[in-house]
Amino acid sequence: MGTSIIGASVTRVDGPLKVTGAARYAVDHPLENVAFGVPVASTVGNAHIASIDTSAAERMPGVLAILHHGNTEPLFRSAGRLEQSRTSEARPPFEDDNVYYYGQFVALVIANTFEQAQDAAARVKVNYEVRKPVVEMSAGETPKKDPQTHYKRGDADQAFNSAPVKIDAEYLIPVETHNPMEMHATIAVWGGDKVTLYETSQGVVNHQRVMSEMLGIPLERVLVLSPFCGSGFGGKLFPWPHSLLAAMGAKQVKRPVKVVVPRNLMFTTVGHRPLTQHHVKLGATQDGKLLSIQHDVVQPTSMVDTYTENCTGVTTMLYSCENVAANQVLVEHNIGTPTPMRGPGIVPGLFPMESAMDELAVKLNLDPIELRERNSADQDESYNPARPYTSKRLHECYQTGAEKFGWSKRTPQVGSMRRGNEILGWGMATATWHAGRGSATVRVRLNADGTARASCATQDIGTGTYTIFAQVVSEKTGIPIDKIDVVLGDSSLPDGPTSGGSTATATVLPAAAQATQQAISRVIAVAQSTPGSPFHAEAQSAGGDPPKLTMTAGYIHTADQRPESGMPFGQILKMARLAALEGEAKTAPQEAEGKKYSAHSFGAQFIEVTWDPGIAHLRVTRALSVIDAGRIINKKTGRNQILGAVVMGIGMGMFEETIYDPRNAKPINNNFADYLVSTNADIPELECIFVEYPDYHLNEYGARGIGEIGLAGIAPALTMAVYHATGVRVRKLPVRVEDLLSASGALRA
Ligand code: MOS
Repeated sequence: MGTSIIGASVTRVDGPLKVTGAARYAVDHPLENVAFGVPVASTVGNAHIASIDTSAAERMPGVLAILHHGNTEPLFRSAGRLEQSRTSEARPPFEDDNVYYYGQFVALVIANTFEQAQDAAARVKVNYEVRKPVVEMSAGETPKKDPQTHYKRGDADQAFNSAPVKIDAEYLIPVETHNPMEMHATIAVWGGDKVTLYETSQGVVNHQRVMSEMLGIPLERVLVLSPFCGSGFGGKLFPWPHSLLAAMGAKQVKRPVKVVVPRNLMFTTVGHRPLTQHHVKLGATQDGKLLSIQHDVVQPTSMVDTYTENCTGVTTMLYSCENVAANQVLVEHNIGTPTPMRGPGIVPGLFPMESAMDELAVKLNLDPIELRERNSADQDESYNPARPYTSKRLHECYQTGAEKFGWSKRTPQVGSMRRGNEILGWGMATATWHAGRGSATVRVRLNADGTARASCATQDIGTGTYTIFAQVVSEKTGIPIDKIDVVLGDSSLPDGPTSGGSTATATVLPAAAQATQQAISRVIAVAQSTPGSPFHAEAQSAGGDPPKLTMTAGYIHTADQRPESGMPFGQILKMARLAALEGEAKTAPQEAEGKKYSAHSFGAQFIEVTWDPGIAHLRVTRALSVIDAGRIINKKTGRNQILGAVVMGIGMGMFEETIYDPRNAKPINNNFADYLVSTNADIPELECIFVEYPDYHLNEYGARGIGEIGLAGIAPALTMAVYHATGVRVRKLPVRVEDLLSASGALRA
């Protein structure tokens, strides 16, 4: 087996459980005596609750309890980041008698059956004193909310004013809503003073901490289980109100309570990517060297939290430029609290920045790749002094991508490339995502029956985390993958990281490797100390040091001999009458290292669209991603990450937009019929090439992370391709056919 399993295309180990339906997602756990909680959600966006009349609902059959702000003890607030915990919405549910957004939970009806609870919930009468909600960006002065961020190097204003070539444009990315297949859900079960939460979570440890804080009980009385997660895309990073409601409800009725967030409320109470409004100004020389970059962002947050995402961080590091100014301000809207959505900050930051770069390329009549090469940053200039990258192979991504895509055949004139009735448009953009690593503890157990087990309180959100644990244990021990049990998604296991920010792989690998190594060392020690073992000191020829032992292909053997000449590790354990031996390791990043370097993944993404002016039909026909993310641990799940993100990127470019009714702040397209996402018919053959240079600054395997970068360059590459085909520059996502029709000449066949 050797070391080849790291980097191989390994089929996910949890695949059979998923395709046979044996994998248990949050609400699949079979529990006795479960009661059903159905939330009553506000039907207005801004109001004071004058009264709640539950009398009719209480008389309905099967109703056990109706909870609301008037009859429950207020919950505690989460202590926040200082306590290594993070909730999604600072205000706990039912904290006061105000409605801050449409779809806010104002009551929870608990009944014997789901239908009874739903029926009763419809009869809860809430009397609102309605106020006008704020849901749109106002043209004039808007009150600003903290935190704001401001960045400056050089004098961007002055450099822009005197620049010979200028771009000055505004861009808008609308609200996008996470729509994982598995909706948010919780089953809460109290046993004495302990609560167990069956969750769908991207972070069981964080969820446990937040619940402990907000329910006001010690950490060890909260158990969070999320063995499988039907995707999260960021929406399941931090706990949301329904989880607290399930815990409160279960305590009150002294039965397990199941709360599922229905699809329509997935649009209101469990986060979204916030709308971001961008103003970008670029100043450049005639030969395309950037003289100044200015990027101003306004983004709404909710009334009950200060969630904000950093869209300008990427602006300050992407290209080499002496004069950069970037500002971000927050405003408040009566919509639910935004939350990270795959590629937060960088994805919405790259769209305006990369679009402006293309506008500059067009203005200069310069190839867009050439423009980017001329401004390439050898160091991360956003730091003062600039920091070297741990590894950056962006140039190779551009070149490989250009060659593979056939970029040299591109004729830059708008509408100049055709295939039959269709006009081709080609676009490209730079992609990036910061690489990071946190701390993790992993336990590895080598069993006497020849199997192994690895465990950690992280979780697999569909990305392949189960599989990479098995790969590491297999690589170190030679135990085949199918004999390795990986246990995740349980907060009582050794502390593991949240699956977020594309950091889980880089974080868990070193701990998994060290724990395995430690378990092997313990087996070796037993091999040397157990009478009857071929490696027992007395069995060895007298004198000298005992021979160095190692483990290969499941055998303990002397380092200079074939594995099969030794003994299977299980046999050694049996000989010593041991059921198993364990290793446990905690690893953390080196602080000093992190301050010396800048760690980012990079990529180049290419899109081909075809525009059929005769029938006003636009589609994406090719998408190529060339990604520099260090060493790829599993080619199969890695590729799957990139391609999945590209599908989301095409959704961002072509379809996704949550639309709010200004009268009551209701998301009017709160369902899969009206909120469009990419479907199979929208997705062409997708290609992904990894430019593999191990980045040993992050871990011994050289892996960075790949969960988010695949989305980063798609929308700007797509709108650039649309411009190339039609001459229409779309600065407000998503691209609409209406935008293309309005262009003079777009209908010319
Ligand atoms: Mo990601 S938005 O950190 O799940």
